[in-house]
Amino acid sequence: MNNQAAGIQHIVDRYLRSEASISMIVMELLQRTEDTSALGRILPTLNGEPAKLRALAQHLADNEAGCRTIVGMLRQRLDSPELAGDAEEGIERCRRLFDASVAQSEESSVALYSLGNPELLAAATDEVIGVMDDWGVLAPDRDALELGCGIGRLMAPLSSRLRSVTGTDVSPGMIAAATRRLTGLSNAAVLLTSGKDLASFASASVDLVYSVDTFPYLVLSGQALVERHFEEVRRVLRPRGDFVLFNYAYGRSREEVNGEVLGLAHRAQLQVIRADESPFHVWNGIGWLLRKA
Ligand SMILES: C[S@@+](CC[C@H](N)C(=O)[O-])C[C@H]1O[C@@H](n2cnc3c(N)ncnc32)[C@H](O)[C@@H]1O
Repeated sequence: MNNQAAGIQHIVDRYLRSEASISMIVMELLQRTEDTSALGRILPTLNGEPAKLRALAQHLADNEAGCRTIVGMLRQRLDSPELAGDAEEGIERCRRLFDASVAQSEESSVALYSLGNPELLAAATDEVIGVMDDWGVLAPDRDALELGCGIGRLMAPLSSRLRSVTGTDVSPGMIAAATRRLTGLSNAAVLLTSGKDLASFASASVDLVYSVDTFPYLVLSGQALVERHFEEVRRVLRPRGDFVLFNYAYGRSREEVNGEVLGLAHRAQLQVIRADESPFHVWNGIGWLLRKA
């Protein structure tokens, strides 16, 4: 087995051990190879349960067009922003990155593991909402703010579970897609933000702030921006308001990331209700639930 095949086998082994969903594994394989044809050739040569390997190859074939688009995005390095020199540079980089991504595939721009497939994205979205429901943060008398709302895929279904939901994003392309997708939902609105703070929101004006796969980009824009957002979350929350954070940073140990989130919560005087949980099957998001006293 050559080096490339060994690397692929290593990723596929996690799927064979049921440690990651089929879509997450296909995404990782695309990230590793950046070549759908090579992947199609190598998959049948791997070791493992034949039925599971066939299912993986079929998943790739079923989503071939979306996977090719993702390879194009990966080759333009649209999934790998670097640590910025300062917050302004980081925010500008995110704006450009997500404007370019959403122009290529709305579904993949918010969740690469959707493979550009609206049904796969809807399944992942349902799972996130199910966990928010289990965590007891949804109620018809609550107003919510989504920090980094992307195309509004969570806001649309959440609008029927909340009194109101407002999404912010730094990318005009994302805001345009969200505006179109949320048409007709009278209690859902989106705002183009500077990305520096939550200045458009009054103090003690919402019951829930949630953020899904957005903080990793704030982290890349620097610690000061992250600290500022934790302070801002506390400011805009009403007493007993909740902050649901799904994914804080990429590519770091869980222990280190959890320590950092707990430190931020402590400094922002937010109570830790849940920490470092892995409640999903389709997606590999890690979650925290923090509360204002
Ligand atoms: C991976 S997408 C996730 C979108 C959405 N939360 C979802 O899960 O469908 C991350 C989003 O965060 C936005 N973003 C990045 N930095 C931001 C900032 N400082 N303030 C607000 N949004 C930001 C990006 O423009 C992008 O739409």
